[in-house]
Amino acid sequence: MASARESLHGEWSSKIAFIMAASGAAIGLGNIWKFPYITGANGGGAFVMIYILCVLLMGIPIMMAEILLGRHGRRNPATTFAILAEEGKHAKHWYWAGFIGILSGFLILSYYSVIAGWGCDYIFHAAMGKFSNATANDIQRIFNTMVSNPWTLLLWHTLVISATTFVVALGLETGLEKSISFMFPTMIVLLLIVVAYAMTTGHFIEGLTFLFKPDFHKLSANGALIALGHSFFTLSLATGTMMVYGAYLPKNISITQAALSIAIADSSVALLAGMGIFPIVFAHHLEPQAGPGLIFKTLPLAFGNMPFGNLIATFFFIMLTFAAFTSAISLLEPSVAFVMEKFHLQRATACMLCGSIIWFLGIGTILSFNILQDFKLFSLTFFELLDYLTANIMLPTGGLLISIFAVWVLRKEISAKELNLDPQNKFFVAWQQTLRFVSPLAILLVTLDFLGVY
Ligand code: TRP
Repeated sequence: MASARESLHGEWSSKIAFIMAASGAAIGLGNIWKFPYITGANGGGAFVMIYILCVLLMGIPIMMAEILLGRHGRRNPATTFAILAEEGKHAKHWYWAGFIGILSGFLILSYYSVIAGWGCDYIFHAAMGKFSNATANDIQRIFNTMVSNPWTLLLWHTLVISATTFVVALGLETGLEKSISFMFPTMIVLLLIVVAYAMTTGHFIEGLTFLFKPDFHKLSANGALIALGHSFFTLSLATGTMMVYGAYLPKNISITQAALSIAIADSSVALLAGMGIFPIVFAHHLEPQAGPGLIFKTLPLAFGNMPFGNLIATFFFIMLTFAAFTSAISLLEPSVAFVMEKFHLQRATACMLCGSIIWFLGIGTILSFNILQDFKLFSLTFFELLDYLTANIMLPTGGLLISIFAVWVLRKEISAKELNLDPQNKFFVAWQQTLRFVSPLAILLVTLDFLGVY
């Protein structure tokens, strides 16, 4: 009987453990590094508004769908799609929907780990007091020296991938849960310190205006697509992460509540990061469009000018690395679960295999910041191309497939039961209708707009 399927890889020990792990997966570089720089590059307010709408109208319903598919299927994402499709008398080819997701997580991790490495490098700069009273130019120099040296980046990338592989190899309870439970509160406190500092710069209101006052002239169709892609990226959707985490979720936990808590925690961290960073950008006459280096060029200025700045900066970059780490773990888990089940390998062997290939791919990203920075395809570097392909194309496609699957393929009695609601319940119907119409339509509109169809 389908609903009695057991998890193959253990279960979360409690509801809080699941929420912590899933928030740990969601909160990471996407919130603190990526959200500020893409907001800066796409004009601020209007971009943020689209991003928030996408989180509410697509992110949360799709996250619920993904967790419930995972909990019902209890296998790696590709197999889960295949068995649930068969049960609903649909084609097994749905397998490939899961596979695309697994592949995108795999690809994302290869560059994610390189950026996490930047965070590691900054721990040492901070601890050695390099940010004390530094000017914007000094900080710029520290950043440029770091990214222009492929060996520094390779060293950190290797460490991050090895550590991630190691923790994932340890398995669920030992590895994941323990590493996560203290991160979230500490992260919030450190971000609040940065926001408090931002209030003293005299540019706080300017920062808030940039972040929250929509000016649609500044947002291109491409910008809207990036906001959409980011809503998936930041919530860790569409790669099977939430499916495998859902697969380890005990039956008695409310999926709706969990999805809401995760989304709220995730967006709060992103908005706090934005509220901390933009006032500093304006106070120092920096460019909001500085790109992927944005937080690495701005935050040290704040730390360098506050009391106990070196200590706080050190903690901050430790936390950033940690937040990245819990997300990296979640990016690796779906491919590991897939390889283990598909090739009947031990967890440790599957981890080694996936970890090595991802490590190798990461070298492309490393070189795209130095030796190969002028080597471009479609005027994008290797890193930019990989980011574009995964976040803006593969994730929205995956999200679309998940929405379609959850409402057209999976029987509604099953989803209602997993959500612990009556199929006639208003909330349940609203959820279904959103997935049925709003999310596919929105994804399609933005994509067509981007492709220049109208
Ligand atoms: N959401 C994480 C972040 O914002 C990154 C991440 C973890 C992710 N797992 C994912 C992104 C799965 C997409 C899909 O940093």
